Amino acid sequence: MSLFARTRRLAILSTALLAAGLSWAQAPIVIKFSHVVANDTPKGKAADFFAKRAAELTGGKVKVEVYANSTLYKDKEEMEALQLGAVQMLAPSLAKFGPLGAKEFEVFDLPFIFDNYEELHKVTQGPVGKMLLGKLEGRGIKGLAFWDNGFKSFSANKPLKSLDDFKGQKLRIQSSKVLESQMRALGALPQVMAFSEVYQALQTGVVDGTENPHSNLYTQKMHEVQKHVTLSDHGYLGYAVITNKKFWDGLPADVRGKLEQAMTESTAYANRIAKEENDAALEKVKASGKSQVHALSVAERQAMKKALVKVHQEMASRIGQETLNAVYKETGFDPSKL
Ligand code: LMR
Repeated sequence: MSLFARTRRLAILSTALLAAGLSWAQAPIVIKFSHVVANDTPKGKAADFFAKRAAELTGGKVKVEVYANSTLYKDKEEMEALQLGAVQMLAPSLAKFGPLGAKEFEVFDLPFIFDNYEELHKVTQGPVGKMLLGKLEGRGIKGLAFWDNGFKSFSANKPLKSLDDFKGQKLRIQSSKVLESQMRALGALPQVMAFSEVYQALQTGVVDGTENPHSNLYTQKMHEVQKHVTLSDHGYLGYAVITNKKFWDGLPADVRGKLEQAMTESTAYANRIAKEENDAALEKVKASGKSQVHALSVAERQAMKKALVKVHQEMASRIGQETLNAVYKETGFDPSKL
């Protein structure tokens, strides 16, 4: 090859390399955010809000791709995908951290532990919440925030109000030992199942019923295959937003700072809309006429509490007495008073 040809080839090569370098420099950092619920739920809306604010605050340097409704991964798979780095962000329900070895998170599943969102926020937005998120670090996961959903109702093809009603009912639960113990204390038969499979399992009678906040019940159309909904508020369902720690620590500091800001804003947004979204979903369930909605009388609620209080004791060693006491201290909960 002549010197001219060689020089020309080198020139072409360096132009190509330069162009590739430029386009690499401009390519946004992509964050895949996978979740299992509909867009039109507190978590779905908060994830979309985060994507929007992340793009705005970083001037387009970060692109958050939200995959809703288990379109990318189901419950268990998404945890594995995060650890492998196939996705960068999730917001699993607090009931789904047991398989990661973070059993302390199941404290949120304890029946009647929070009376309302104010009590819950004392934990999730305070030092105990921070301590809990910190426990994930050793597992390659960084906990960024807690996002609200809401308080759960029971649904089935009959009203679930007394212990007699629960006897022998196959009820779908999330993968939490506390929820398993809760269902057994009621006399029901718990069945762990991925969220994406619940509608079909209810429709075909694989399970008789389930528990969920109204936003999930309505957006998954569960109320169309459940004749009765009981407003029990017997437990809470909410989320921890988590990311792959290696990915997060590897971000340029300025970008990470902007994403932290976007997360703070998204958390405020999520926790502002969660109750309204659930209240609105309940109204839509009622208006659909597909499910009959029942309230619990004071005596029925008291009987349910009495049956369920033992779950606190039973699960204390799994959750850790220290975590349990820390939560009780924040909320003023006293199991002996149930
Ligand atoms: C469920 O599996 O019932 C919930 O965890 C779904 C969700 O993410 O709200």
